[in-house]
Amino acid sequence: MAYVNGRYVPHSAAVVHVEDRGYQFSDGVYEVCEVRGGGVIDERRHLDRLQRSLSELRIRPPMSRAALSVIMRETILKNRVGNGIVYLQVTRGVARRDHAFPPPDTVPGLVVSARNTDFVGNEKLAAAGIAVVTVPDDRWARPDIKTISLLPNVLAKQAAREQGAREAWFVDRQGYVTEGASTNAWIVTSEDRVVTRAADRGILRGITRTVLMEAINRQGLQFEECPFTLEEVFRAKEAFVTAASQVVMPVFRVNGRCIGNGSPGPIAQMLRRVFHNHTERS
Ligand code: PDD
Repeated sequence: MAYVNGRYVPHSAAVVHVEDRGYQFSDGVYEVCEVRGGGVIDERRHLDRLQRSLSELRIRPPMSRAALSVIMRETILKNRVGNGIVYLQVTRGVARRDHAFPPPDTVPGLVVSARNTDFVGNEKLAAAGIAVVTVPDDRWARPDIKTISLLPNVLAKQAAREQGAREAWFVDRQGYVTEGASTNAWIVTSEDRVVTRAADRGILRGITRTVLMEAINRQGLQFEECPFTLEEVFRAKEAFVTAASQVVMPVFRVNGRCIGNGSPGPIAQMLRRVFHNHTERS
């Protein structure tokens, strides 16, 4: 079942209008929250970020936060999701095709879906680690907004898949890694310093990233928000990625070269284990 513009409908009948601006212009934003034990992880932070994305694009919130929260919960229940994700998308609504904004009374579109993920499979994947390849960061200048306009990310992920990797890291013109196609990127240096790029306008401020910074601090690890190059990645002891859909996922290889000893690093594995001690569950 999915929630589509006011109704819960079977997944096979969950459709939107051809003139939905999300469909025609990628004119919309989204959120993905982890669902664990039937509860939503860090919902407050995800809804804060949704609000920010909407306001940056001047899209009207489709309803109150409380109402959104109820729909997320209902969608999780209707799909019997224990461990998985809930997806929420808001578009500027349905209007006759015209690039400029539609009339102000246009109702925003809202779609919510939820599904189980393969918990055991993900744990196995994390125990093995993933391979990453790099691609030039040719995205627009505002990847800090969580828009549904994801074509560069789609192409990057496909490039990864075609090279036997699970994630692609974008590298900017200065040679610094920005982030993954759907994750934030991290390394652990030879001095055991955990490093991720600062969340300026160049990357999405991941919720998992924010919460993990708290966990890193509590674990007494050294931490630095700093851009890093591919050379620094190759010299690193460990690498990993973070996202709501995969929490902390160790990286064992980048562009065919092993990171550290070529298996998931102890810090990444430890952070994966302790991550949920620092999240909010609702
Ligand atoms: N992706 N960077 C990008 C480009 C992302 O798309 C995501 C999330 C992240 C991590 O953000 P968070 O920790 O809040 O999930 C970073 C989601 C999961 C997706 O598109 O499926």
